Amino acid sequence: MNILVTGGAGYIGTHTLITLIECGHAVVVVDNLINSKAAALKRVEQITQTKIPFYNVDIRDKSGLDEVFAQHQIDAVIHFAGLKAVGESVQKPLAYYDVNVNGTRVILDVMQKHAVNSIVFSSSATVYGDPHQVPIDESFPLKATNPYGRTKLFVEEMLKDAAIANDKLNVIILRYFNPVGAHESGLIGEDPNGIPNNLVPFIAQVAVGKRESLAIFGDDYQTVDGTGVRDYIHVLDLAQGHVSALEKKHTQAGVHIYNLGTGNGSSVLQVVSAFEKASGQVINYKICERRAGDIAQCFALASKAKQELDWQATRDIDTMMEDVWRWQSGNPDGYE
Ligand code: NAD
Ligand code: WQD
Repeated sequence: MNILVTGGAGYIGTHTLITLIECGHAVVVVDNLINSKAAALKRVEQITQTKIPFYNVDIRDKSGLDEVFAQHQIDAVIHFAGLKAVGESVQKPLAYYDVNVNGTRVILDVMQKHAVNSIVFSSSATVYGDPHQVPIDESFPLKATNPYGRTKLFVEEMLKDAAIANDKLNVIILRYFNPVGAHESGLIGEDPNGIPNNLVPFIAQVAVGKRESLAIFGDDYQTVDGTGVRDYIHVLDLAQGHVSALEKKHTQAGVHIYNLGTGNGSSVLQVVSAFEKASGQVINYKICERRAGDIAQCFALASKAKQELDWQATRDIDTMMEDVWRWQSGNPDGYE
């Protein structure tokens, strides 16, 4: 297939490009580089030995997108582009609605104009809010607790409406749990701007001496050791989930929704310990107050994707941390 990857220069996008190319697909990338660097795409080209057509276009720019669709015969869109920082979304909600919701609407419009009827959307486990129990299956009630989460929820609803109105449209909604890890080459990985919001990039920066100490947000949750539990999934397993979903479902019109997680939870302290084992470094940490909006536990029931997509995550937390360490130690300043 010829696949347009929006946000293809970003963390999950770059890893997915590699898996797509390895599986024999052709790719075209649209990204405005607001949270990524062109150097990341160069690294993907180096790993895959493949030239990647790249357009520095904003997904809200209808005529810009139109030109890309006119130049390439696109079979399906994998739509990663968007803003993703929960805290920032509280400060700048309208920017999040504009890029995430309006941007997706523009993509759907242009797809319709060019009779492209298949889209994979990056949703998030955040749409389950604070779940009443774990593991979380796809039928759990949806409730976002911050503007970022609401944009994911609204886009899911918009996609469902679009599929009702167009009976040829194929929509695949993938709800990611916590993507971590890096390509095993150590050439690409997560490269956050400024102070990382997420646990694993923060630990990695402590390990290379860029941050002094990790603040662990609470040790009084009802969990195995009191720290928060999440379903960390290797970004390459996540990438393979997209390819499996497209290959199995892209000719089936309608809406298909899957959790992409491992089905296992790890606590903050378990992640710290796996990272220490992988890196041989000691991670300094302090136990601090809970972070507003955090939940105790979040992990997937991953059986629907296994049954219907023949996909499951294969890499464990030790492998995830080994790959993060290879990336971070080889590139302490990211792509700079
Ligand atoms: P990322 O920021 O690394 O990648 C997103 C890419 O989109 C970036 O390269 C950015 O430059 C680009 N982009 C942003 N706004 C754009 C615009 N208006 N036009 C064109 N390009 C634009 O993030 P990621 O971690 O790779 O996440 C990819 C997707 O997965 C996002 O939609 C995110 O919300 C979703 N998601 C991520 C996580 C996670 O923890 N990383 C979890 C669940 C869902
Ligand atoms: C994981 C655990 C923290 C940082 C977020 C978004 C979610 C999704 C993935 C996009 C929690 C603890 C963290 C730190 C810590 N993104 N922690 N010290 O909150 O599960 O999910 O990213 O869709 O929408 O909300 O991930 O990595 O921030 O936190 O103790 O410095 O690590 O309290 O228990 P989270 P995270």
